[in-house]
Amino acid sequence: MTIFNLPATVCLTADPDFTDLALNELRAAAPPARTTGTLAPGVLLIDGVDFFSLAATWHVTPPIFVRHICPVMAAARLYGGEDDVEIMADLLRGQLLEYVEPSLPFSVQTRIFEDGLLKPFDVNRALSSLVEKATAAPLDVRAPQQILSVVIGNVAEMGGAAALMGVSPTLYNLSDWAGGMRRFAREKEQISRAEFKLLEALEVFGIELPPRGVALDLGASPGGWTRVLRGREQYVTAIDPGELDPRLMGDPAVRHLRMTAEAYLAGEPERFDLIVNDMRMDARDSARLMVDYAPLLYADGQAIMTLKLPARGRRAIIERAFEILRQAYEIQGARQLFHNRSEITVYLTRGAIGRESS
Ligand SMILES: C[S@@+](CC[C@H](N)C(=O)[O-])C[C@H]1O[C@@H](n2cnc3c(N)ncnc32)[C@H](O)[C@@H]1O
Repeated sequence: MTIFNLPATVCLTADPDFTDLALNELRAAAPPARTTGTLAPGVLLIDGVDFFSLAATWHVTPPIFVRHICPVMAAARLYGGEDDVEIMADLLRGQLLEYVEPSLPFSVQTRIFEDGLLKPFDVNRALSSLVEKATAAPLDVRAPQQILSVVIGNVAEMGGAAALMGVSPTLYNLSDWAGGMRRFAREKEQISRAEFKLLEALEVFGIELPPRGVALDLGASPGGWTRVLRGREQYVTAIDPGELDPRLMGDPAVRHLRMTAEAYLAGEPERFDLIVNDMRMDARDSARLMVDYAPLLYADGQAIMTLKLPARGRRAIIERAFEILRQAYEIQGARQLFHNRSEITVYLTRGAIGRESS
C-alpha cells in the first residue's frame, strides 16, 4: 500500500448554504485551520488543527453551523474494485484498532461521495465485524460511545478516490449521526415536514417535557409541531391565523385560536410550561415577541424557536436576535439542525431575571 501524507486532520460537515458561517466558527475556534479540499457541497477537508483539541473546544461551546466533525487519522487510495474493503481493513488493523476502547460500544459510520464505489452498508458491516473480533468492543449502532468514521471521496492530493478514517468518542463528533444527518421515519399520520425539526430539536438539546404539561404553539398551522407535542402528552394551545389539519380538530387537548401571536398576547393569555415558535417572521421581530411572551412561562419553563434567516447578513441578524432574547431568557443551545433550511433552532429557558419576577 502506498503511504500518503494525510490530506487533512478533520472532515467537517455543514449545510452547503451555511458553509461560510461554519468556516467562521472554525477559524474562531482554531485560527490556523485551513480547508484543503471539498468532497461534496458542505463536506470539507480541514488541516492545520488537531481534531481532539478542536473537538474538546466545541464540546464545551458547541458551534451553531458546523454539524459534524470526524477525525482523519489514516488514509488510503481506493481503486473501485473488490479489494477496496480489504484496503480499508488493512488500514484499520495497521493504524486504528489501537484507538478503539474495548470496553465501550462502538459503531462504524461510512459516507461515500464517489459514485460507483462501495455501498456504506457493506463497509460498515465488514469493518464492524473486524473491530468486534479484534477488540471485543460491542457493536451498538443506536447508542455508540465511540465511532469509527469512514469518509470516501475524491481527494485531489491523493490522486483520486480515497478512504479517510479515524476513531473518536461519539460526543466529539457533534452529532451521533453520520455527517449529522438525523433522519426520522415518515409516519402515515404526519402533518408536515416541520415535525422533523421539532423532533430533532428535542433530541439534540435533550429536552424533557413535563408530564401532561401545557404548551403554546405559536405559528402552529398546519399543525405538525402540535401533533409532535400531543405525542408527548402535552395540552396544546395552537395560535395561527391559518388552518389546523382537520385530524387535530377533534382532539380535546388541542385548542386552536385563529389569530396572530400579537393578538393572543394582547388579550388575556394563560401561562405555559413550554412555548414553541416556528412563525414565519423576521428573526429579530420573532425574538422581540418571545421576550414579550416570557412572563407567560412558568419559572422552570422552556422555549424552542426557529430564527428564519435571509440570504445575506445572517450573522449580524443572529447576533441581534440573541441579544434581544437574552433580555428574558438563557440561551441553552442554538443549532442549524439537519431539518432546518434557512433557519436555526434555539433552545431557551427563563433567565434569572425571569425567574425572580415569576
Ligand atoms: C413554517 S409554518 C409553521 C409550521 C408548523 N410548525 C408545523 O409544524 O406545521 C409558519 C406559520 O407561521 C404563521 N405565522 C406567521 N406570522 C404569524 C403571527 N404573527 N402570529 C401567528 N402565526 C404566524 C403562518 O401563518 C404559518 O402558518
